Amino acid sequence: HQGALIATYADSANRKMADHLRKFETMFTLTPQRMRMIVEAFKDALETGLAKRDQVVPMIPTYVFGWPTGKETGNYLAVDLGGTNLRVCLVTLQGDGKFEITQSKYRLSEEQKQDDGQLLFDFCAECLKAFIDLNIESGVIENDAVLPLGFTFSYPCSQDRIDHGELIRWTKGFGAPNTEGHDVVAMFRKSLEKLSVPAEVVALTCDTTGTLIASHYVNPKTKIACIFGTGCNAAYMEYVRDIPKLTALNIDPNAEIAINCEWGAFDSFEHEHLPRTKYDLVIDETSNKPGEQAFEKLISGRYLGEILRLIICELIDEGVIFLGQNTYKVEIPYSFDTAFLSLMESDPTDELLMIIGIFTHFFALETTLAERQFFRALAKLVGRRAARLSACGIAAIVSKMGYLEEGCAVGADGSLYNKYPGFADRVHEGLQDIFGEKGRNIVTYHAEDGSGIGSAIVAAMTKIRKEANLY
Ligand code: GLC
Repeated sequence: HQGALIATYADSANRKMADHLRKFETMFTLTPQRMRMIVEAFKDALETGLAKRDQVVPMIPTYVFGWPTGKETGNYLAVDLGGTNLRVCLVTLQGDGKFEITQSKYRLSEEQKQDDGQLLFDFCAECLKAFIDLNIESGVIENDAVLPLGFTFSYPCSQDRIDHGELIRWTKGFGAPNTEGHDVVAMFRKSLEKLSVPAEVVALTCDTTGTLIASHYVNPKTKIACIFGTGCNAAYMEYVRDIPKLTALNIDPNAEIAINCEWGAFDSFEHEHLPRTKYDLVIDETSNKPGEQAFEKLISGRYLGEILRLIICELIDEGVIFLGQNTYKVEIPYSFDTAFLSLMESDPTDELLMIIGIFTHFFALETTLAERQFFRALAKLVGRRAARLSACGIAAIVSKMGYLEEGCAVGADGSLYNKYPGFADRVHEGLQDIFGEKGRNIVTYHAEDGSGIGSAIVAAMTKIRKEANLY
């Protein structure tokens, strides 16, 4: 009798899950038609950003002029303040398209992201000093050398020259006070001086711009670079004459300049174009920047795990899953890492043993096979939507620039792109849904390290331009 009861319960729970899954499928699936509408709106936003200053998608001219030649040479330091880590590198460009790199990585704590901004730059300077000392000791860096440094700071900064950038707003959960509206290069220089670090900041870049330059350095077919990591963004090359907001400045209209789109901001504030579910709304409203980075919040690694966690919590409240179990661990905001989605999707076992592991180990929860299959299906929906939206962004640039016919390579980097199973395939599938067969002409590939190598190349390009009196 008992057994029959349990079977009935399991049946009804499984039926409920199946019903829910159908509902979620509708909620998270983007039809090709919907994608094309998003692409059109996206194109408009890109144009508006190029036309006027202070737009939602800021389309930032980076003051990186044109492509590298591959002949850039020299030793450069690169400091990369990313969304999750701080990385310090020493890069040697050999002038034949080849390079060498040594680096150290430091994890950023959540406190550091919210502490006073100057302290964050002090930390960058301290890590850099330790790195330089180490390399002097081992004879890699000469004792009295003051090396040029490329600073990769991957947050929207408005620039009016290569070694300057005012932080427009923090993204990716950062909130360090006294930084927005300030020149981050000046702040970093102050920290370097305080600690007498022998390095001179010559260029400020964003990870996307660095990726664009580094990828083109090794693959000249590259026209667009994207980051799909903690945040999400793209860069590409534009003619100055096609950037109306630059016309008042005395820049050669036929020069090319890299544009850091900061496309993560697409559809912020007004929320007219992107299909947001109630889970996306919760993420937005409980974030430190409600209304902002609307596109990024549907795509990037910082948020995907949280989307799935919010769905799980709702189903717990409705009594669909984990009945009778203590669920407090999974109820902690941001406790469900996006890496879990990757693992869930890649679990090769019939019993979904990796998913058992995630839930028992991290959340002290037992799962039935039906639940695990259900979670895996949910992960797929969330991950697939992210990839298809990413395809919309790429398609907007491709279509605006007319790259479809001759095709182009898109250098892509970031944890989501590199580690999430099937992410790239889904982006490609999305591009074909938007453009039809011709979508095959647009191919993404794993990019060259933008914030290390790219930053060094930009520093070298800056040196060459300065020597030619072009800055
Ligand atoms: C965020 C930042 C942007 C960066 C991206 C990827 O969108 O605002 O500058 O490129 O994350 O790291």
